[in-house]
Amino acid sequence: MRNFSMKLFGTALLAGCMLLAGCERPPIESVQRGYRGTGMLQVYNPRTLEEVRAANEVPASIPLAPGDSPKATTVYKNVQVLTDLNVAEFTRLMVSMTNWVSPKEGCAYCHAGGDFAADTVYAKTVARRMLQMTRHINTDWKKHVAETGVTCYTCHRGQPVPAQVWTQDPGPKTAAQAGNRAEQNAAAMKVGLTSLPYDPFSYYLKGEYPIPVAGEQALPADNRHSIKETEGTYGLMMHLSQSLGVNCTYCHNSRAFYDWDQSTPQRQTAWYGIRMVRDLNNDYLEPLGPTYPKERLGPLGDAPKANCGTCHQGVYKPLFGVSMLKDHPELAGAKR
Ligand code: HEC
Ligand code: HEC
Ligand code: HEC
Ligand code: HEC
Repeated sequence: MRNFSMKLFGTALLAGCMLLAGCERPPIESVQRGYRGTGMLQVYNPRTLEEVRAANEVPASIPLAPGDSPKATTVYKNVQVLTDLNVAEFTRLMVSMTNWVSPKEGCAYCHAGGDFAADTVYAKTVARRMLQMTRHINTDWKKHVAETGVTCYTCHRGQPVPAQVWTQDPGPKTAAQAGNRAEQNAAAMKVGLTSLPYDPFSYYLKGEYPIPVAGEQALPADNRHSIKETEGTYGLMMHLSQSLGVNCTYCHNSRAFYDWDQSTPQRQTAWYGIRMVRDLNNDYLEPLGPTYPKERLGPLGDAPKANCGTCHQGVYKPLFGVSMLKDHPELAGAKR
């Protein structure tokens, strides 16, 4: 009997420890970001924040290239995008791109057999489109990226495939005729291990599925204002919070999620961010599908795409708002 109760006690102790392991140990700090009494606080843990800071150190830039060398197009054979750069600027960018995207593999990740003009490696074809995309972000999406802008490093961080990309999620396999689960109850990481719908990205960050769900009438008027629709929106919002490492109240006053007048300016930046990500996914990333080898595509055959986490990686401003673009004016847009 005693042995049994000891065992029971041991099991309870173990279960208790396991439960607590999911909690963060103090100290926890909070910062007030809205009017008093609105509960608009950001909660931080200085210890984990330190880890995030260390992971977001910005690498040193190579010194700027002299401006007096001949145009790259006069020397090289197959320059289609960087037609405005001179040879020195072009070479500096090639070296930087290598550091940012393929430091281990080197130039060979995009160029094979010493023939730099050939377009035989898929990564080069992809990188050419990436150059156009990066310039497009920095010129046409200033409402989101401001003058801080982005470089290849913002997403790639020293690896060919960014840490956070997504493809369409077919969801877990279920027995035939198991009913329509409405993409719910599958505890996906991207919606914070909740039971919310597991593929918010296809709907909201590629598709233009409407996000507002609050009704303007006392009784529900149509399907847009149903609980089911709200769950979809919440799934997306979990991703927004997770990717930026913030709470809902970084953007909203939680007594009125819909109300822009009670929201923070960051919510507007986020609104543009959603439109920007849709644009990148539809015009740049999805069309690259046929260029990639099969193993890069998702289980349903679509190309890898971006979400908020691709740039932000857990921080409210990527790389804590440090601009690498100022050292890389060639990525801010084509010189005239
Ligand atoms: C991440 C992919 C990538 C890496 C890594 C890379 N390049 Fe390139 N390279 C490109 C792309 C894309 C172009 C074509 C640019 C354009 O069309 O404007 C190019 C073009 C060139 C050209 C012009 C060739 C011609 O005749 O048209 C040279 C030279 C070159 N790269 C050298 C290098 C060197 C040297 C390295 C290593 C230090 C390097 N590249 C690393 C993607 C890459
Ligand atoms: C907004 C984020 C973002 C930026 C900025 C960005 N990329 Fe990418 N890049 C991606 C995504 C997403 C993919 C798809 C990942 C994959 O290939 O699985 C990708 C794929 C690539 C690949 C193919 C890797 C492979 O083997 O599949 C190369 C090469 C590349 N990018 C180079 C660049 C270069 C060079 C720049 C800067 C001029 C750049 N990228 C800027 C998001 C970005
Ligand atoms: C980084 C800013 C940001 C964060 C963090 C954020 N949201 Fe949002 N939220 C938005 C934006 C922007 C919209 C409007 C999107 C649109 O209409 O395109 C929105 C819309 C909503 C809506 C729909 C409002 C309506 O008009 O019906 C709800 C509900 C919502 N958010 C809940 C949440 C919850 C819950 C969280 C935390 C899990 C959260 N949000 C975190 C930016 C944010
Ligand atoms: C292409 C890279 C990129 C992607 C993708 C991206 N952002 Fe950003 N975001 C930035 C940059 C760069 C800044 C910093 C701009 C500045 O310095 O003001 C920023 C700033 C913000 C801010 C302002 C933070 C503050 O404290 O002022 C919010 C909010 C935000 N992003 C939300 C989002 C959301 C939500 C998404 C996904 C829908 C998203 N971002 C996707 C690059 C990106």
